[in-house]
Amino acid sequence: MTAAAGAVTAFAGTNIALVKYWGKRDAALNLPATGSLSLTLDRLGTRTTVHFDGDGGGGAGATDRIVMNGAPADAATTARVTAFLDRVRAHAGSRVGSTARAFVTTENGVPTASGLASSASGFAALAVAATRAAGLELPPDELSVLARLGSGSAARSIFGGFVEMARGQRADGSDAAARPLAGGEGWDVRLVVAVTTVGPKPMGSTAAMEHTARTSPYYAAWLAGVDIDLAAARVAIAARDLPALGVVAERSALRMHAAAMAADPAIIYWNPATLAALACVRALRERGLPVFFTIDAGPHVKALCRAAHADEVAVSLAAVPGVVKTLTAAPGPGARVVEGGGA
Ligand code: PMV
Repeated sequence: MTAAAGAVTAFAGTNIALVKYWGKRDAALNLPATGSLSLTLDRLGTRTTVHFDGDGGGGAGATDRIVMNGAPADAATTARVTAFLDRVRAHAGSRVGSTARAFVTTENGVPTASGLASSASGFAALAVAATRAAGLELPPDELSVLARLGSGSAARSIFGGFVEMARGQRADGSDAAARPLAGGEGWDVRLVVAVTTVGPKPMGSTAAMEHTARTSPYYAAWLAGVDIDLAAARVAIAARDLPALGVVAERSALRMHAAAMAADPAIIYWNPATLAALACVRALRERGLPVFFTIDAGPHVKALCRAAHADEVAVSLAAVPGVVKTLTAAPGPGARVVEGGGA
């Protein structure tokens, strides 16, 4: 398909956190309470096309049009995307004009709102496509700050491979950006996703983080451990020590979920297949295979392993009762323009 004049298409791979982000220090600016560390994937991403109508011809009351996976986006998603595009319009000034409306089409390679992190790749792709369609050429660290305003994890998908997101110190969030981590380039790992349900997750991450911070007696303990995990993960990546990285990833995920489970009322993202998949990963490890799990705000299990073991891990996880399917991804590049915008 040929893009319309002025339309820009970007692709971003999703990313999976190995040291989790769970909690905000500022809700309005989406500033994380801690740093986090992730792996950007080559697939399971989002392809987004943005076109501004230039002269604001839609007239007063015109709205952005957002089509997600072939259907008009719901009101909540439209409001979230419009708020994001308003920032881009404000930044672009006279290049697009404050009344210019956008036409956004987006295709997710991951089930939306299922805990497979579609907001990470979604807002990273939107940040790249919308800024370029608005005539802006932002450096990656500014794109990362912008993507963060859409979704905290999206800041990391601007970069490829292993990425660290900074908590930042400034109140305006200008230093809460991600950066690529040196040392991990070319490390041939795989992430095998065991999909354990096709339904939407029970509670979105923003509401769940807020609820955890407000009601969980374990939230303070969760926050207190993150810097230690970040330091250990950095060392493990620099040394390409998969077992060392895996130990950190598992404890970070379990502590995040423990904090959420201890909230009042509890937030439980797991289903029986989640636990069965964890048991499968642990059993593979007992047989000598270096494979380690992580779990995001949903019931799916993601297994980190060497490329050479990915098929065996996928076959084993696919045989777990309740696992619907598996998807295998490799490390991938950061968000990028793939059509239009001079690409
Ligand atoms: O970016 P958000 O608001 O969807 O939050 C992401 C939360 C986790 O995926 C559970 C952890 C993370 O660091 O990606």
